[in-house]
Amino acid sequence: MKKKDIVLSGIRPTGNLHLGNYYGAIRNFLSMQEDYNCFFFIADVHSLTTHPKPENLHARVKQVLAEYLACGIDPEKATIYIQSDVPEVLEMAIYLNMNAYLGELERTTTFKDKARKQPNNVNAGLLTYPVLMASDIIIHKAKYVPVGKDQEQNLEMARKYARRFNNIYGVDEFVEPQDFTFDGGEPLKVPGLDGSGKMGKSEGNAINLFDEPKEIRKKVMHAVTDSGPSKMNSEMPETVKNLFSLMKLVSDPEVIKQFEESYAKCEIRYGDLKKQLAEDIIDVTKPIRARINEYLADDNYLGRVTKIGAEKGRESASKTLDEVKKIIGFKRFY
Ligand code: TYM
Repeated sequence: MKKKDIVLSGIRPTGNLHLGNYYGAIRNFLSMQEDYNCFFFIADVHSLTTHPKPENLHARVKQVLAEYLACGIDPEKATIYIQSDVPEVLEMAIYLNMNAYLGELERTTTFKDKARKQPNNVNAGLLTYPVLMASDIIIHKAKYVPVGKDQEQNLEMARKYARRFNNIYGVDEFVEPQDFTFDGGEPLKVPGLDGSGKMGKSEGNAINLFDEPKEIRKKVMHAVTDSGPSKMNSEMPETVKNLFSLMKLVSDPEVIKQFEESYAKCEIRYGDLKKQLAEDIIDVTKPIRARINEYLADDNYLGRVTKIGAEKGRESASKTLDEVKKIIGFKRFY
């Protein structure tokens, strides 16, 4: 039998998952778990860059785990693990660090953004974030990495570190990982409700999978729009485009067409558009929310899933790490 290609992706446990995480990443996970050898993990070590309180960390990991399962990631098909359960990843990251240069790390957009947003906490973990991420990926020799558009540069860095390791040691140990979307298109950037760009956990502009219907209605009704077009067929402002982008994820194409036509004819009523959008989002999230609650209440099951995941994750990671240590030249005296 042909060996299945390997897929890996992860999400940081820094807040409830939102529609950006779902459509940018998880929806791809679901289609991939059918055909590939998949590893999906919770990046709790990465989340330490923002210094979560110890008393909150476990609950956050548990929430994302329940959310993974509630979305349909199936532990019978994919390996689900928690990053800190697979310490081989951290050892590998140290080796990769030796070939990662300060200049290139400082130039990374995510580093520059974070350094701007948290000037009092520009720690070394933030700087070497892409190295740990490269380690996550290449330690399983993953070929495909389903992620949203915001992770493109990190993925580019992972390719660079895989390539560099191969070149330095004259081996072809690592494959260069590529992004993946289930429809073959570009990685997605799901916009937020404030008209200011991407939906994000810390931007205050997100709709979470775990939000209650009334919260979703409230958030969507408060979304930024404008006063409406005054000329036929005019270009949509960014805020309105964003609402249509969200609709494209959750609504019926026929319904979208009607709203587009009413926009072109200057007859659009944003209240109606938002009501429709809110109800269509609720149709997607309501069953997921119910399942999240079921998984949150089942510690035994979560324990079993993560124990098996940790074993499978470590088995795969330690195999690569042994090879890497040999390549580097480590030999035991005993
Ligand atoms: P994180 O936790 O910020 O986001 C998790 C996933 O959700 C995607 N995403 C979005 N996609 C489209 N539109 C949005 N508005 C949006 N917001 C978030 C992200 O692109 C990502 O796919 N560095 C990663 C975690 C990570 C990782 C890895 C990912 C650590 N190691 C190895 C892949 C492989 C992160 O912070 O994602």
